[in-house]
Amino acid sequence: MEISVHLQSPISILHFMNEFKQLSEQMRQAVNAEMKNVLNASEAQPDLFHGMLHYHMGWRDEQLQPADVNAGKQIRPVICLLGCQAAGGDWQQAIPAAAAIEMLHNFSLIHDDIEDASPTRRGRKTLWTIWGMEQAINAGDAMFAMAHLALNRLVDRGVAAETAVHALRRFDETCVALTQGQHADMHFETRDSVSVDEYLAMITGKTAVLLSLCTELGALIAGRDAQTIHNYAQFGLNLGLAFQVIDDILGIWGDEERIGKSASTDILTKKKTLPVLYGLSQNEALRQLYQQENTDEAFVQKAIQVLNSTGARDFATERATYYSQTALQHLEEAQPAGPAFAALNQLSAMLLNRDF
Ligand code: IPE
Ligand code: IPE
Ligand code: MG
Ligand code: MG
Repeated sequence: MEISVHLQSPISILHFMNEFKQLSEQMRQAVNAEMKNVLNASEAQPDLFHGMLHYHMGWRDEQLQPADVNAGKQIRPVICLLGCQAAGGDWQQAIPAAAAIEMLHNFSLIHDDIEDASPTRRGRKTLWTIWGMEQAINAGDAMFAMAHLALNRLVDRGVAAETAVHALRRFDETCVALTQGQHADMHFETRDSVSVDEYLAMITGKTAVLLSLCTELGALIAGRDAQTIHNYAQFGLNLGLAFQVIDDILGIWGDEERIGKSASTDILTKKKTLPVLYGLSQNEALRQLYQQENTDEAFVQKAIQVLNSTGARDFATERATYYSQTALQHLEEAQPAGPAFAALNQLSAMLLNRDF
């Protein structure tokens, strides 16, 4: 099967992009309404407990006044709903799963920003820098529990109880894998060397399994057979690997305004991201530099200078391209249908070429 998007004329691509924009916008609106419902976000002034969660979601400012700011790219729920539709299902039935996954993602970010000592997220102060670490841990816990409540709403949309319980089990297995990936990510900061295989296992856990769950649950709710669900899961998994490698690149060479987060904390905390691993394997000066106990801005500048000379960015870009292509092969094997297939193709290309 050809990847249709690449063969279309510029005019039909424009037409298609409008269609994709409309469909994904409709999906985002439905997911946001669902998340607001679960997170108790009405017009009324929230108490501080809920207000912290609403701040993180971009619905309230620091004073808990209404805000409508960058709430993230929300790619996970869109991929889940497009996956459901491409698999022949009714995407509206999958809204609780899409909302639950986006909330789980947001839980992981609240805790991740504490774990990584990150001052900014989506161009705003992180929750822990405003309300303190203790409250941010608790807010993350609340978001985690509410993500589960969101998933329980599948049955309210007519999804069979057996399917919903299966989805819940996969959701929890994914939570465990995600925290295991986060564990490895933090542990690697203190290690001098990490192999590419160890790195891949780490990003599979911290990032790829959640993207995999998006497409897996989409196909599950569409009522597809085990082999097709597997192909959708593999599509999401490989897309997630590509996504994290691009995030590694942006975490070093990205424009802070565009990415909405710091482009130096990865190096300051000696994260073993793919470009750094490659640089360490190629360059003795970088290995010496990383022996240094304390890091500062001069350390970051020196590290980037050496990374530039080793071609670490090109190496990582090639790996991301490879995972993105592998993802699309699995998608084609799943024999998806209709505009949602084309939209998933387009989205994959956009994610690979993103600068935010
Ligand atoms: C950030 O994810 C964390 C990673 C897994 C790299 P996103 O880049 O999807 O974050 P938002 O939700 O768009 O802010
Ligand atoms: C991404 O973590 C994965 C999770 C949050 C589970 P990172 O630490 O790599 O992502 P950013 O750069 O903070 O968004
Ligand atoms: Mg992290
Ligand atoms: Mg982080």
